[in-house]
Formats: sequence, structure tokens, C-alpha cells
Amino acid sequence: MAVLFLISVVVLAVHSAASLEIGVAPAPYNCPPVSYHAWEDPNECDRYVRCENGTVTDAQCPNGLVFSPTGGAYDFCDFNWRVDCGKKRSVPPPVSSPGCYYQWGLYPADNCVQYVRCEFGTPYVKDCEPGLAYDDRSKTCNWPDLVDGCDPESIVGFRCPDKSEGLSAKFEPFPRYPHPGDCTKLITCVNQKPRLISCGYGTGVSLYSLTCEDHRDVPECKAAAATANVVKKK
Ligand SMILES: *[C@@H]1O[C@H](CO)[C@@H](O)[C@H](O)[C@H]1NC(C)=O
Repeated sequence: MAVLFLISVVVLAVHSAASLEIGVAPAPYNCPPVSYHAWEDPNECDRYVRCENGTVTDAQCPNGLVFSPTGGAYDFCDFNWRVDCGKKRSVPPPVSSPGCYYQWGLYPADNCVQYVRCEFGTPYVKDCEPGLAYDDRSKTCNWPDLVDGCDPESIVGFRCPDKSEGLSAKFEPFPRYPHPGDCTKLITCVNQKPRLISCGYGTGVSLYSLTCEDHRDVPECKAAAATANVVKKK
């Protein structure tokens, strides 16, 4: 009985230290003066204890996010569909606001080439990279021919010919074509559906090989290729 009492006192002490709003690192937490990390809560998927520069705080992820030691969306939290909560209590239910099912989440927009990113309950419309369509199953922008209800021909702006010829046919079963208006992109057809491929930095499509080559080797695309895809990446 005395042992049991002692244990419960210790547990109580640990618990109250962890639930302090802000404080100096308590005994069970190693939180040095220069530090930034977090510990998961053993029971709740969206709760954690964070340590920043010697200060330990009890924290909860915003609605739609759950604890992730590497973060990903906000602080030490990531989207609930990206994290396996294992045996912990189930993911908290949605708190909806106009345009946002969860306060934080990714959702389809009213067209294929955009999506909605909710942060703190506010919806922000984002663009997919050119040529891609939002795929709500994977929560990423994907080839439009793989996304139900999206039209690759209108998104890519190209219709795959019924039969490939010449250099294009060399790439069967995925024939390639030069992009009609941009020599730093090419089009590859998969099951007769077009996919837009962007050449890497400083390269352009050679009409002699239908591959991306160094801009110095593609006189027909030199200027555009030299500066292609310099910016970008979100
Ligand atoms: C913690 O320390 C780092 C490095 O000195 C600093 O950049 C950061 O702003 C500090 N964080 C807080 C909350 O003071």
C-alpha cells in the first residue's frame, strides 16, 4: 500500500510538471538552453510536450493535425492522414468552418488544377505545378490521366495523335512530342493521354533527340532553356 502510494505521488508530480503552461525543464525532460524538439504524448495523438531553448511546454496540435516529431505542417504537427497514430486514442473529430472540413487539411478545389489548403480554418487556394491535377486520394498534384474526372487534354493543352511517327515513335509505348509553345517542355503520351514534362534547370528539348539537353546544345531553344525553371519549387 505504501509503495502504491509512493508511485502515485511520483506519477502525479510528473504529470503536473508536464502540464505547466511554460516552465523550466522539469526532471524527466532533458531540455538544454539551446534546443528545439518535442516528445509525444503516450495517449493523445494530437498532444505533445515541446522543448525550446530550455523551456518545456505542454502543447496541442491545431484541429486536423497530429503530433509528428519532424513537423511537416505546423510546429511539431503534420496532417492527420500523413501520420499513423497507432494504438493512441483516435484522431480528434473535425471542427469545420466554411471551406474547411478540418481546420487544417488539403481539399479539392472547384477545378482540377488547384486545391485548397486550410490553415487555422481559413481556406487558401493553391495551384498545382503546370500540367498536373490535384488528386485527393494521395493529397498531391498528380498526372491528370490518373485523376478521376480530370481531362488531361485540356489541362496539358495537347491531344495525343492516334498513331506516332518518326522520332516520336521511337519512344513507344510512351511516344514523345515537342510542346507546341514551349521548347523547355515536352509531352509524353501514356495510353493516349498527354503528360507534360518540364526539362530541368538550364536544359531544353532538342528536336533531334526529343530529350532535354544542355541549353548550349539546343540552339533552337538556347535563350529559353538557359533561364528555364530557375525559380520554382514550393
Ligand atoms: C532558441 O535559440 C535559437 C538559437 O539561438 C534562436 O534562433 C531561437 O529564436 C530561440 N527560440 C526562442 C523561442 O527564444
